[in-house]
Amino acid sequence: MTEANSRLRVAVTRRLPAEVEAQMAARFDVTLNPDDHRLTPEELQTALRDSDVLVPSLSDRLDAAMLAHAGPRLRLIANYGAGVDHIALAEAQARGLMVTNTSGVLSEDTADMAMALILAVTRRLPEGVIAMQSGDWLGWSPTAFLGARIRGRKLGIIGMGRIGQAIAQRAKAFGIEVHYHSRHRLDPETEAALSATWWDSLDWMLTRMDIISVNVAHSPATFHLLSERRLRLLKPSAVVINTSRGEVIDENALTRMLRAGEIAGAGLDVYEHGHEANPRLRNLPNVLLLPHMGSATIEGRNEMGARVIANIEAVARGETPPDLVTG
Ligand code: DGY
Repeated sequence: MTEANSRLRVAVTRRLPAEVEAQMAARFDVTLNPDDHRLTPEELQTALRDSDVLVPSLSDRLDAAMLAHAGPRLRLIANYGAGVDHIALAEAQARGLMVTNTSGVLSEDTADMAMALILAVTRRLPEGVIAMQSGDWLGWSPTAFLGARIRGRKLGIIGMGRIGQAIAQRAKAFGIEVHYHSRHRLDPETEAALSATWWDSLDWMLTRMDIISVNVAHSPATFHLLSERRLRLLKPSAVVINTSRGEVIDENALTRMLRAGEIAGAGLDVYEHGHEANPRLRNLPNVLLLPHMGSATIEGRNEMGARVIANIEAVARGETPPDLVTG
């Protein structure tokens, strides 16, 4: 522990793994949230006013009005998580606050979850689970629960950052044809290693795919990127997977189309309105809903904590933190 660290007041908004909290308590003058309640706006304002570093996560809304409560000590918002769409970045920067995230350490776990959803939905696992849990299964039948063979399917990844590439690696191993749309085309070596085909036009890609995986960050530019118009470009046999942010898909339109059989299925880990999935998505046999658990591994959560600590310590030393968000 350095002299600089020991003076740093760090406010953590959510309960973190015990190991991470212990490491923080050993290094900083830390305020924790042992009962993991969602901080009230007043509590968040106090944390912003009285701390050198705030460690929020995606359940804290740090919009411009909230950031106006930043006190003179506040230097760093060290987000415990990759996505920073809950933080008004421009406002933070205008106030001279640094914002960091933990983007490097959760790509593999999130990609595993995307693959789990792809396999579960294309092979109709939700229906199988329901049949077993309800006791309705009457025994093996040649025509029951027929899904689609995964080998040879066309997967279209929207957003080819770290998570998109980690999904592509896994999909390739399953014999899936990998396609992607992103603003920046990968360099030829990476594209060849992933056997991935780049589509300049998202619309054209959508018309050809069997599976769509959303892996682009949420921002004003990607809000409802999968609008009703674009969802209507999908083949009726297509399935939609989202492990990124719910706001990227028009959830009402997706719900209507799933219910009408105009899209074959969906595997969703995130929702347009936080933790409230459209109720009409529930109980659909072709839809698997998860409670935003894409990065929820013990190892990942500990590594996220280590990134947060590394970012705080860099700022304490007067250095640029390694995970500074500049966008
Ligand atoms: C993040 O860190 O932004 C993830 O969505 C949490 O799983």
